[in-house]
Amino acid sequence: MTTHDTLEVPPQKPVSGTADAALQARYGTSGVPFAASLPEWNSTLETLLAHRSVRAFSERPLPDGLLETLIAAAQSAPNSSNLQTWSVVAVRDPERKARISVLAADQAHIRHAPLLLVWLADLARLEAVAARAGVQPEGLHYLETFLVGIIDAALAAQNAVVALESLDLGSVYIGAIRNAPEQIAAELALPPHVLPVFGLCVGYADPTRPAEVKPRLPQSVVLHHERYDAQAQPAGVSLYDEILSEFQARQGQSEAGWTRRSVERWRTRESLHGRDRLRDALAALGFELR
Ligand SMILES: Cc1cc2nc3c(=O)[nH]c(=O)nc-3n(C[C@H](O)[C@H](O)[C@H](O)COP(=O)(O)O)c2cc1C
Repeated sequence: MTTHDTLEVPPQKPVSGTADAALQARYGTSGVPFAASLPEWNSTLETLLAHRSVRAFSERPLPDGLLETLIAAAQSAPNSSNLQTWSVVAVRDPERKARISVLAADQAHIRHAPLLLVWLADLARLEAVAARAGVQPEGLHYLETFLVGIIDAALAAQNAVVALESLDLGSVYIGAIRNAPEQIAAELALPPHVLPVFGLCVGYADPTRPAEVKPRLPQSVVLHHERYDAQAQPAGVSLYDEILSEFQARQGQSEAGWTRRSVERWRTRESLHGRDRLRDALAALGFELR
């Protein structure tokens, strides 16, 4: 791990034990060099660095008003040109969740979470607005506009994740929603020009099966100064392979490290679990992507 030796910080105050522990968990290594030069630490950083996906939920019901609070947090995210090209479907019905779980790689946490939020790139709303204004929005049919919808949906969803984690709830994204986008769209009665981007299971974590913070790549691999430089990559990745193998061992998973597992994820077309036909699915959902 390299230090931020080019980062200028004001005179140091000693880093709190909490910050040190949070950084150690995030990078899976003791003595994170830049911990000593943190400008400050607060509860927002605490929440962000403590993130872990939760896949085991308790039966504790969600409080009234939670959904609306999460959506207010989501709507507070920045969005492209204030076009607000996303929507979300809140699914609570156990039978609907069960059907969706089957479409999304049969993931049990979709059934067990009390709430599934399906985040949508929604170009239909602006299309309808334009139609009411008597305009044919040609720009709607371009890849760029589609990308705007995806970006907006992702930023909104992540704001909701931070909000729910600040309230001691847990969540896990469900990209497997895109294994069968047309079927998910039919299940949720989505109009054309709306893509289910990912799901998000939300609930209180089962305290008997707590999730652990999953270490990330060292900063030497992801942070470039001024210009892209992959020189530190091989050493950083091999260090991370060791760190992640230890994490996997603690989780009772096969100790594949990061390299093997990541390479496997994209090795063959089949490893995309149906998402290799996403282009066709998008066409079926009305996206031209010119
Ligand atoms: C867009 C997206 C899709 C994901 N899809 C799934 C999924 O279908 N099933 C699952 O169990 N986890 C899913 N995850 C969770 C990731 O596996 C997880 O975030 C990653 O391994 C890092 O672990 P952490 O969130 O605990 O830090 C997804 C995460 C993202 C951001």
